[in-house]
Amino acid sequence: MSTATSRSDLPEWKRLEEIARRLTVEPLGRIAADPERARRMLFRAGPLCLDFSKQRLDAEALKSLLLLAEKAGLPGKIRDMLSGGVVNPTEGRPALHTALRLPLGAELRVDGAPVVDEVHESLSRVASVVERIHSRQWRGFSGRAIQDVVNIGVGGSDLGPFMASQALGEFAPSEAEGLRIHFVSSIDGTQLADLLHTLRPETTLFIISSKSFTTIDTMANANTALQWMLNAAPDADMVIPLHFIGVSTRPDRMTAWGIPDCNQIRFWDWVGGRFSLWSAIGLPIALKIGMTHFRSMLAGAHFVDNHFRQQPLESNLPVLLGLVGVWNATFLDIRAHAVLPYDGRLKYFPSYLAQLEMESNGKSVDTGGQPIDYHTCPVLWGEVGSNAQHAFYQLLHQGTQMVSSDFIAPVRRYGLTHHDGEAHKGLQQQHQLALANCLAQTRVLMLGNSTADIRPDTPGFKRYRGNQPSTTILLDELNPHTFGMLIALYEHKVFVMSVLWDINPFDQWGVELGKKIAMDMVEALQGRPAADTDASTQQLLAEISRITGD
Ligand code: F6P
Repeated sequence: MSTATSRSDLPEWKRLEEIARRLTVEPLGRIAADPERARRMLFRAGPLCLDFSKQRLDAEALKSLLLLAEKAGLPGKIRDMLSGGVVNPTEGRPALHTALRLPLGAELRVDGAPVVDEVHESLSRVASVVERIHSRQWRGFSGRAIQDVVNIGVGGSDLGPFMASQALGEFAPSEAEGLRIHFVSSIDGTQLADLLHTLRPETTLFIISSKSFTTIDTMANANTALQWMLNAAPDADMVIPLHFIGVSTRPDRMTAWGIPDCNQIRFWDWVGGRFSLWSAIGLPIALKIGMTHFRSMLAGAHFVDNHFRQQPLESNLPVLLGLVGVWNATFLDIRAHAVLPYDGRLKYFPSYLAQLEMESNGKSVDTGGQPIDYHTCPVLWGEVGSNAQHAFYQLLHQGTQMVSSDFIAPVRRYGLTHHDGEAHKGLQQQHQLALANCLAQTRVLMLGNSTADIRPDTPGFKRYRGNQPSTTILLDELNPHTFGMLIALYEHKVFVMSVLWDINPFDQWGVELGKKIAMDMVEALQGRPAADTDASTQQLLAEISRITGD
């Protein structure tokens, strides 16, 4: 008996390829015409609803995807991940972001040691910082209360907290009134420079967020921030404890940088950077929305973790979202995926997902280290849907690319009742307009205009071919709880896809070489190019040196 060496050798895989060939030539509108199918393709968990009825998918395809998931051992892999198994083999560790949202009293051990108490201990440290800042007890070197908090981080130590703070800003408690939270990530220093002009050192607190506490982008910004602070108050021993907090898995490196123990909040190497907003990396979120709302976000994510653990595959929302993702990217060969929230508060959700999905699943070797012969993660991007309609939807409707999309919309608009009179009415109408546009776009993408308004003499430029598949995700409303659910849904989707593709979603070796070569380039810019510098780069170095006169 031969053993399958690649996923693509499995009979379940081959079967899906056959089904894909059959469905690819069917107009999407025809596949989706059956009302019974539409009913079967809508799934719900609490306030979260997923509608796959506009996907190029029939009952047979879905059943075959579920069979592939079984064959790939998905149920066991889910249990493994949630119970602390080593699901990140290249770094020899678990991936336990789900432990960060376990309630107190839950049982979970890593290497035999219980982790839930530690998680809650770290959460209490976050709570205590939030309390001291919100109550204006945290004072800077001049004795004045902190008014501006600057999170310095990049990647997972920036995108999650930034995106969540933008999404949930309206939930800021009255204690946070007047407190401004800023985010600085870019290595070039322009963001920091612009921001520093607007800040006063005596009332500014920096959070240096870095899992590794070595990332050069973050350390460069942190060092510049420290210099700026020392210009105002030169005594580092006095200033750092009052103006710098460190969040990292590496206390030794925080200490070496000068951050005293009492200003260090630690987390664990079993939390992946892009999965870390639930840990102390989420401190800026907690500062923005308060601990009650932050805990509600954790509870929302925990709700989805339980659903992921308990639901059978065929009604498990993250499983289904992941299977549909694999179906589109691998079997239908759709290489681009758009995330389109119809809510301005979710503006940065697509950039957050770009890291979550592409850094996790942008891989081309399987868990055995062998090259794979199928497509994995598509290019993912997105924007607030209604804005994107006026920017890149042209390509979705009439370009040459197949693109799959997720449309995300809250059904009720939380908080509208707080607005008075005409503004209230206007905002309600605007919310309805957003929903209407969301529904219209998914419909046009599916059907094009092939039916009602096409005549034989309709010119080509007025024709919409349709046939672009999409999933619609509805939240009853956007609040910290449903927002936590939404993020956890995508985290688990990523894991499901990785299991089907047989890749490790929890490492990111692909970013290491660039970091190393950047150091060589620093040397080269300082006049010490390595002997093996390629001709193209040498030419650019010469051009830069001509411009700078060095
Ligand atoms: O370079 C990629 C990466 O390691 C991401 O995975 C991570 O989120 C980001 O850099 C920041 O890393 P750190 O939190 O260690 O500074």
